[in-house]
Amino acid sequence: MTSPFPDGFLWGASTAAYQIEGAAAEGGRGPSIWDTFAATPGKVKHGDTGDTACDHYHRWREDTAIAADLGLNAYRLSVSWSRLQPSRRGDLNPAAVAFYRELLADLRDKGIRSAVTLYHWDLPQVLEDEGGWPERATAERFGDYAARTARALGDLVDEWIPVNEAWCAAFLGYHAGVHAPGRQDRTAALRAAHHLNLAHGLAVAALREHAPAGKIGSAVIMTDIEAASDRPEDVRAARLSDGGGNRLFLDPLFRGAYPEDMLAHFAPTGAFDAVRPGDMETIAAPLDFVGVNHYHRFVVEADPDDAHLGNRALPPANPVTGFGWEIHPESLRRVLARLSDEYTGLPVYITESGASFEDAVAADGSVDDADRVAYLEGYMRAAGRAIEQGVNLRGYFVWSLLDNFEWAEGYSKRFGLVRVDYDTQRRTPKRSAEWYRGVIASNGAALYSA
Ligand code: FCB
Repeated sequence: MTSPFPDGFLWGASTAAYQIEGAAAEGGRGPSIWDTFAATPGKVKHGDTGDTACDHYHRWREDTAIAADLGLNAYRLSVSWSRLQPSRRGDLNPAAVAFYRELLADLRDKGIRSAVTLYHWDLPQVLEDEGGWPERATAERFGDYAARTARALGDLVDEWIPVNEAWCAAFLGYHAGVHAPGRQDRTAALRAAHHLNLAHGLAVAALREHAPAGKIGSAVIMTDIEAASDRPEDVRAARLSDGGGNRLFLDPLFRGAYPEDMLAHFAPTGAFDAVRPGDMETIAAPLDFVGVNHYHRFVVEADPDDAHLGNRALPPANPVTGFGWEIHPESLRRVLARLSDEYTGLPVYITESGASFEDAVAADGSVDDADRVAYLEGYMRAAGRAIEQGVNLRGYFVWSLLDNFEWAEGYSKRFGLVRVDYDTQRRTPKRSAEWYRGVIASNGAALYSA
């Protein structure tokens, strides 16, 4: 069978600053909420921190060489706000600008497109001390940081993504409290959600003005949610779950409004008083592409004990990844189809998709991660089905290029195409990396040759 992937398809991989850079106290970097959170006993598994991570700050040349060797034609990274603007306002830190400029220039020399995320969860701690994302001022500061970063790096960046997964930043950080800054206050989380959406919009305006050559998109996490039965209470529970996880972010971006049912559901919190005239227009500014991160399907039933959205997820019906996340490739096709049916015909990039597994290292140091190969093959074929069905899919970024600091799970979860030995910092491409090289070289045809 011939490949459904169009010419020029971007075959990429993604990373994020806090998860790989390390050098937490070097180059003038200031502390972020993840430094504080990881240093707090009991917050991250085994007390792991991002202090050293993959030491990418010093070893990035090795990492871009690996990316080139795999044949990646795109690479998504994030820049660290607390490295670029450690004192939270004013001029950018020249050492940080120099670091990112060198890295981005090297990617360009290697013919690898760069997709740069401005916020992948590492809020400068000074801004959290002033109230963090529940405060509007944080979004305004982000607009300023976006403008300065656009001016400093704009000639070297191909794609810009203002905010990674606003849902996670708002709800894992401020409601569940399992991510930094570890607060458990639902009203604060809802206000954070609005201000992260607003931050996206303010950054879009800043990037349009100061980095006009770059394309701008999103990295929205889209979860596939199904009702456990057609009982009205389960259908309603699934709708609410979808509202809180997906529509609260997609509707503002593509329809310029919060969903009516969400406004009604959360009205008792008063959180949406944070929305000011003009905000929704700012948030819904036109984009050039839409980026989707996808990891989950949830089959949900009504749960009157769940005070947030009245639902609970059933145990996964299929085999799971090392994280316990259900393997269900059809969900990727479903979220892509939904995006194009219900929201936008813009070019779509899968900005993250991948899996952690318990990789075994053989005596010769090699890693035969057959489970990751099978996972990616299933999900890439599902992406291919979406294209055949008419979805305007233009790229697929695997999470992740390297094993890295997996937030609250520390180094215990490995998502990389490339193994990192954290004692020696040795990089070893896994079998999935070699496999991906073949997929890329054939523009996807290798997915269908087995
Ligand atoms: C996503 C994050 C990314 C990584 C993957 C596994 O939610 O954006 O940083 O941790 O999950």
